[in-house]
Amino acid sequence: MSNQSQWKTSTGFILASAGSAIGLGAMWKFPYMAGIYGGGAFLFLFLIFTIFVGLPLLIMEFTVGIMGRTYTTRIYSKLTGKKWLNIIGWNGNLAVFILFGFYSVIGGWIVIYIGNVFLQLLSVEHTSLTQIKFEKIISNPWLTVLGQGIFILLTMIIVMLGVEKGLEKASKIMMPLLFVFLIIVVAKSLTLDGALEGVRYILQPRIEDISVKGVLFALGQSFFTLSLGTTGMITYASYAPKEMTIKSSAISIVIMNILVSVLAGLAIFPALKTFGYAPQEGPGLLFKVLPLVFNQMGFGIVFYLIFLILFLFAALTSSISLLELNVSNFTKNDNTKRKAISVIASILVFIISIPATLSFSSLSGIKFGAGTIFDNMDFIVSNILMPLGALGTTLVVGQLLDKQALKESFGKDKFKLFVPWYILIKYMMPIIIILVFIVQLF
Ligand code: TRP
Repeated sequence: MSNQSQWKTSTGFILASAGSAIGLGAMWKFPYMAGIYGGGAFLFLFLIFTIFVGLPLLIMEFTVGIMGRTYTTRIYSKLTGKKWLNIIGWNGNLAVFILFGFYSVIGGWIVIYIGNVFLQLLSVEHTSLTQIKFEKIISNPWLTVLGQGIFILLTMIIVMLGVEKGLEKASKIMMPLLFVFLIIVVAKSLTLDGALEGVRYILQPRIEDISVKGVLFALGQSFFTLSLGTTGMITYASYAPKEMTIKSSAISIVIMNILVSVLAGLAIFPALKTFGYAPQEGPGLLFKVLPLVFNQMGFGIVFYLIFLILFLFAALTSSISLLELNVSNFTKNDNTKRKAISVIASILVFIISIPATLSFSSLSGIKFGAGTIFDNMDFIVSNILMPLGALGTTLVVGQLLDKQALKESFGKDKFKLFVPWYILIKYMMPIIIILVFIVQLF
C-alpha cells in the first residue's frame, strides 16, 4: 500500500483489503468472544450486525475513499471543506495505534508457538504437541515481550522496505491455503467425542443466552473484523482502481470474514469436551485447543507448524496495514521520511504493547473497567473509537456530502440499492450507533 500505488484490477484491490480485514479478528477473537457470550446466540447477533450494520458501513467507507482519494487525516476536509472534521481521521489513527498495541500481543504468541513447535520437531523424544502448555508460555513475561517484539519488528521491516505488494501477491496462495487447513481442522474436530455438543453450542442460537453485553460485544466484533471506523478501508478504497465495484468487493469481504469466523468456531468448539475445556477460556482459547486437535492427526506436529505459519501470515497482512495507516498519515505522500517514521511508530507501539502483554503475566492482577489492561485496550478500540469513527463518517456522508456525487461513487446500481442504503446511512445508522453508546454507559 505505498502512496502512489493503485491496483490495476478489482481483484488486486479485493485481495489487499481482504488481507487487511481478515486476520486475528475472525480466527482468534471471534471464537473466544462467542465462547464467553453465549455461542450460537453470539454468532446470530454477529451475523445480524455484520450484514445489516457492517456491510452498509463498509460500502460507505469504500464510497468515501473513492470520492476523496487521499490519506484519511485529510480526506474529510477535502470532501467537506471543514478542516476540523479531519478529527475523524485522527480518531481512526489513534484506534489503529492502540489496536496494533494489543494485536501484537497475539501476533507474539503465534511467533512463540512457531518457535516452540519448531524446537519440538527438532528434539527426538518430544514430538507431542501436548507439551505446549499455554499457561506456562504466556506467564513468562520476558518470552512474551520478546515474541511481541519480533512480531512488531517483522511488520516494521515489511513496511520500511515497502514490500507489501509482494505480500499481497503471496496472499493469493497463503490465504486459500489457510482456508484449506481450517477445513482440515474442522473435519478432525468433528470426529472427536462430544463434537455434536460443541457444534450445537456454536451454531444454535438460544434466546436465553442473549445478554446486553453480548449484544454490545457482537457489534464490536463486527466493527473489529471489518476494520470499520479505523479509516483502514477508506484508505484502501482511496487507492482503488476506477472500475472497481464497491458493492461486490464489500460483499466478498463480508462473506470471507463470516466464513473464516464460523470455521474457526467449528474448529474449536467441537473439541472442547474431549480436552476438558470450557467455552469461556478467554483470549487463550484457540492457542489451548488447536494444538490438541492437531496432535490427534498423523504428522500433526508438521501440519500444526504449517498452520501457524499461515496464521502468522494472516496476522501480518493485517498488522502491516495497521502500521502503514499510521505511517502514511505522517509521511503525507513524502516517502523520504518513510523509514524514520516507520521506526518511530514501531517503537511507540512496542512501548504501549508491553503492558498489554504483561496483562497475562505480571500485571494480570490489575483489573478495572472492561477487565485487564489488555481487555481495556481492546474495549477502547472496538467499542469506543471504532463506533465513534463510523458515527462521524455516517454523519459526514448523510448530512454534508452531495447525494448525487455519492451516487456516482456508489457505482452501477443494477439492483437499485442506492436509495435504501442512503436512507440507512443518513437516518438509521447514527441512531443505532448512538443508542449502543448510551446502553454502554450503564
Ligand atoms: N479487521 C482486522 C482483523 O480482523 C483488524 C483491524 C481493525 C484492522 N482495523 C484495522 C486491520 C485496520 C488493518 C487495518 O484482524
